[in-house]
Order: sequence, then C-alpha cells, then structure tokens
Amino acid sequence: MTETDDLVVQIFQENRRLRGEVDRLSMIESSRWWRLHPRLNLRRARAAFQKDTPPAAAGPPAAKMLTKRKSGRADLRSRFREEVVERGTFSHDWFTGKIAAWEPIMEVLESRNARALEIGSFEGLSACYLLWRLPDSHVTCVDTFAGSVENIVGRDLPDAGLESAFETNVASVDASRVRKLVGDSKHVLIDLNTEGARFDFVYVDGSHHALDVLVDAALSWSLLEIDGFLVFDDYRWSAFGDDPLLRPGVAIDCFLTLVDGKHELVFRGSQLALKKIRA
Ligand SMILES: C[S@@+](CC[C@H](N)C(=O)[O-])C[C@H]1O[C@@H](n2cnc3c(N)ncnc32)[C@H](O)[C@@H]1O
Repeated sequence: MTETDDLVVQIFQENRRLRGEVDRLSMIESSRWWRLHPRLNLRRARAAFQKDTPPAAAGPPAAKMLTKRKSGRADLRSRFREEVVERGTFSHDWFTGKIAAWEPIMEVLESRNARALEIGSFEGLSACYLLWRLPDSHVTCVDTFAGSVENIVGRDLPDAGLESAFETNVASVDASRVRKLVGDSKHVLIDLNTEGARFDFVYVDGSHHALDVLVDAALSWSLLEIDGFLVFDDYRWSAFGDDPLLRPGVAIDCFLTLVDGKHELVFRGSQLALKKIRA
C-alpha cells in the first residue's frame, strides 16, 4: 500500500467512527431517560423562562446565582413528584423533603457514573430518586422488605407487599440499573465487603435501632470510596423516647467520633451527610 492509500484508509475509518458517534448521540438524545434528565430539562426550562421574561434589574451576581440554584432545587422536587411519585405506587413519602439538601452531593456525583448503595429501600422512593437524578448511576438496594419497627407498630405496610411495590416503582424509572439484595443489612453488607464491592454514595435508612445503625455505618465505611458520601436518615429521630438505643442520632454521633479526621461534614439537620476524605 502507498502512503496515499494509507491516508485514504485512515480517513475512511475516521469517517466511519464519526458517523457511529453521531448515531450514538442521536440515540441517546431521543431516549426517554435522556429526555427526562434533570440537567436537560433545567436547560429547557431556563430557555423558556428567558424567552418569556423581560431582563431583570441587575442584582449582585452571587445573590442571583443563589436564587437560581434554589429555584432549580425546588423545581427538581416538583418534577420528580410529577414524573415519578404521582405515577408510582407509593404509600409514604419520607424522602422528597430531603431533595434540596442532597443536591450539592448529586451535583458532584452526576459526572461520576456513581455506584450507590441504599440500606432500607421500602417502596423504592429514594432509590427511584437516585435513578432519576443520576441517569448514569447504578443503585444497590438492601432491604428485608419486612418493614421497619415503626411500620409494624403502626400496621401501615402496603397491602400488595413492600417488595412488589418496590419492584413496580423502580421499574417505572429503570430497573436495569438496580441490584436488589433481600436480607438483613448486617449480613448483606458483610457479603458486599467480601465480594469487594465499592460505592460512591451510601444512604443509611434501614433499622432505627442505634446498634444496627452503628453496624450499618461501620460496614458502609469500608465499602465507601475516598471522596464518596455517606448520608444518614433520621439523625434527630426520637419517636420512641429518650433511650439512646432507640435513637439513630446517638449511634451516628459515636460513628463521627470514630472517623474523626477522616471525614468532612457536608450537612447536619434531620439527616446527616459526610464525605470520606481518608481511610
Ligand atoms: C424508612 S424505610 C426506608 C425508606 C426509603 N429509604 C425511602 O426513602 O423511601 C426503612 C426500611 O428499612 C428496612 N429495614 C429495617 N431494618 C432492616 C435491616 N436490619 N436490614 C435491612 N433492611 C431493614 C425496612 O424493611 C424498611 O423498608
């Protein structure tokens, strides 16, 4: 082959690669999940807003940014409710009030093909949010599907069964990115550690017994990558009184002492979130 032939072959191959890339991108753009992607919808909403609204009086740039971000977060919640919650079979909403607090973490994870672990999935509401908010993520869900002590006491479990509600709900977003592990988190997390699983995000929302929370936290810590995030629900929960064994927050505070110097606090409120900075 002459040098010119070589060049023609290279140009031909490059053309074929570029055509493939164009096909791939148009497939992604026309796919349902891409159309539902919050970033894309936010861009569309912004464009529509800018078209309809006369230019606002100039304010301080930082304040303007903050208002924009806040309204983006409020918009996420209402869009998630509209697109997922209202179409699913959810009997409880313990989650959508947390969306705004999670957003700084979601913004970091959206560029990472995040691997998320959820301890306590119930009907799949928070799992659906992770799948919906992070369209490249994979979510491992651990639950006994027996319900928490607060559901059992209140007898308010869905009639159809938790596991079946969970399956229907995650399938309405994308079941192919979900790994469901049925069992007590104490055992399942040891199995995950044994198989060498690693995660960028762990949500601890299973048993509310303080010793279980401590075990979930300890086993999650070794599954969590450096720069990964650990979020605890019910940091301030005390519905069963003052007994420290019945308050997740006591266990979470003990855990924070144990990993002192190895984490950064992201937020502390009704939930607590931290970032692992060293092992
Ligand atoms: C509060 S719900 C989770 C709510 C869910 N994260 C959401 O936001 O929609 C707690 C769940 O933890 C599960 N659970 C309780 N103890 C557990 C344990 N030891 N191991 C695994 N799952 C457990 C219950 O079955 C229940 O579904």
